[in-house]
Amino acid sequence: MFLNTSTEVVVHEVSTPILKKQEEKMSLRTLTSENIDDFMDWATDDEVTQYMMWDSYTSRSEAEHFFENVVAGHPWFKAICLGDKVIGSMTLDKGKGAHSCKAELGYVLAKKYWGKGYATQAIKLALEAGFDDLDVVRLEAYVDPTNIGSQRVLEKNGFIREALLKNFIIQKGGLKDRYIYSFLK
Ligand SMILES: CC(C)(COP(=O)(O)OP(=O)(O)OC[C@H]1O[C@@H](n2cnc3c(N)ncnc32)[C@H](O)[C@@H]1OP(=O)(O)O)[C@@H](O)C(=O)NCCC(=O)NCCS
Repeated sequence: MFLNTSTEVVVHEVSTPILKKQEEKMSLRTLTSENIDDFMDWATDDEVTQYMMWDSYTSRSEAEHFFENVVAGHPWFKAICLGDKVIGSMTLDKGKGAHSCKAELGYVLAKKYWGKGYATQAIKLALEAGFDDLDVVRLEAYVDPTNIGSQRVLEKNGFIREALLKNFIIQKGGLKDRYIYSFLK
């Protein structure tokens, strides 16, 4: 706003272009050996793997072996993608025989993507596809009671905490409890 000499008020409308970054779309795609470099980002990070059943990877060849022997033949091993960037992975492991009515959900994100709602969105996508993809009626997840973020992402997606399973598993040399969460079709 400017005042001219005759004290007439002249208003200049200034339009500032607002360059808002387009929200990147999240998707779940099949994880392939092309994603090993991204995989190394989270799989070598002790803070990320502390709650996992596996130890941090220490070499690329270890990861290549895992992709050849596990990922390639897995029926539901997904890359969590933000746009075209692979930021984590998600698995559904279907039970066998009498347990074939259900699948266990697992998920992990590279640390720099934590706390932005991405795991919550990715689990929502898994819920949309997982039941039909695997022909199951129950999804379950086992969570360390100290892993608060993991409990939150399940609860925000409507998973129900069914029980505390005491001395349920030996993880990284220690006896651990687990919460069991479920989501029914
Ligand atoms: C668990 C994990 C997947 C969460 O991913 P994320 O993208 O950060 O999750 P989101 O941002 O969608 O949601 C996290 C929620 O937990 C909350 N949270 C995280 N850590 C927390 C803590 N220590 N105390 C309280 N709340 C916490 C966040 O505030 C958020 O809740 P809000 O949306 O109500 O604020 C991610 O931290 C991860 O990959 N961890 C390592 C692997 C792992 O533990 N996998 C699960 C094994 S069961």
